Amino acid sequence: MNVLSVVGARPQFVKAAAVSQRLRPRHDETLVHTGQHYDPELSRVFFEELELDEPDYNLEVGSGPHARQTAEMMARLERIVTDERPDVVLVYGDTNSTLAGALVAAKTSPSLAHVEAGLRSGDMRMPEEVNRILTDHCSDLLFAPSRDAARTLEREGIADGVSVPGDVMYDTLLEVRDRLDAVDPDGIDVPDEYVLATVHRAGNTDDPDRLSEIVDGLCRIPQPVVFPAHPRTVDALHEHGLWARAAEGIDVVDPAGYLTFVQLVSEADCVATDSGGVQKEAFYLDTPCVTLRETTEWRETVEAGWNVLVGADAGRIVDAVYTAADPPSKPDLYGNGNAAERIVAELEREVE
Ligand code: UD1
Ligand code: UDP
Repeated sequence: MNVLSVVGARPQFVKAAAVSQRLRPRHDETLVHTGQHYDPELSRVFFEELELDEPDYNLEVGSGPHARQTAEMMARLERIVTDERPDVVLVYGDTNSTLAGALVAAKTSPSLAHVEAGLRSGDMRMPEEVNRILTDHCSDLLFAPSRDAARTLEREGIADGVSVPGDVMYDTLLEVRDRLDAVDPDGIDVPDEYVLATVHRAGNTDDPDRLSEIVDGLCRIPQPVVFPAHPRTVDALHEHGLWARAAEGIDVVDPAGYLTFVQLVSEADCVATDSGGVQKEAFYLDTPCVTLRETTEWRETVEAGWNVLVGADAGRIVDAVYTAADPPSKPDLYGNGNAAERIVAELEREVE
């Protein structure tokens, strides 16, 4: 089987690492990096730490407005898919790289497979929600991380090609877990007790009122706050005149490598984030999570009591961090860490 995998943004390297490791011993994989993320700390570090093979192609699209970025990816990717003639194109998650891969594959490849299918936040203002829905609706094989995600697809009229292998990010996390104790904190001065925060969602960074509330909330948390900042957030803090306040009240550091970051999640008292992947990693690592959004596509973590949605309200952020505690039990929400193996088996059954 010849699989063409499309990646481009930080969380996709984490997801693809698990599948690639299972795929490559038995099949041919062509790895395409769209170039959506290009700074070494958002891209290269993941290839090194997760031992991902070098991409066969880098489309080098870089940053830009949605339409231009997606269109550039599509135009460059179409040539490659036409030349390579893969049996299946594999896309991950919900970024513009996902959508570009899906739209090209739907018209030029015999089969399109989507890893992380069926997730919905219910908020169509999120570019990711648009990307998820469109990708699911043109996919042939849909790999859902949970039963609930599969039920969502069914409600939308998609039943064929759906399976529930679990979450590939859990596979990657389990793979590195034993290496965490030896991890160098990458120059970060890690306090004994701290809250780990990340913010990068457009809905938070591009709205000065929301970003200001979040900074305010994080600054008022009694524990030190370690904040590995996405470049988009650093730019927004400067643009909205919030940089000085943030730098004074929070430990703003560069984006961390994956191993360091996971170790930071695992040791934190609590995580405050608007990231999708980080909500799950906090759950896997038994760290309570406060989500700086009104909705989440990972709603099982909220129902299980490990995650609370507080939006961008300073008072609610402080209260939620203060009261955060481990619930008495932890259900298995997203499989048992063998999602990649199950995905490869399903591809073999359906595509070969
Ligand atoms: C993208 C995804 C988001 C995902 C996130 C993971 C979309 C619509 N959004 O958001 O779903 O959660 O990646 O981190 O696809 N920049 C750099 N260096 C880089 C990359 C970006 O400085 O290597 C800056 C640029 O100013 C750019 C901005 O970050 O304009 C936003 O980058 P972009 O890839 O468009 O979106 P993300 O916010 O990273
Ligand atoms: N991550 C990382 N360093 C950081 C922040 C996040 O390695 O400084 C990892 C994190 O462990 C997770 C992934 O990046 O695996 C999540 O990416 P992000 O929050 O950017 O995107 P999302 O999951 O929201 O799409």
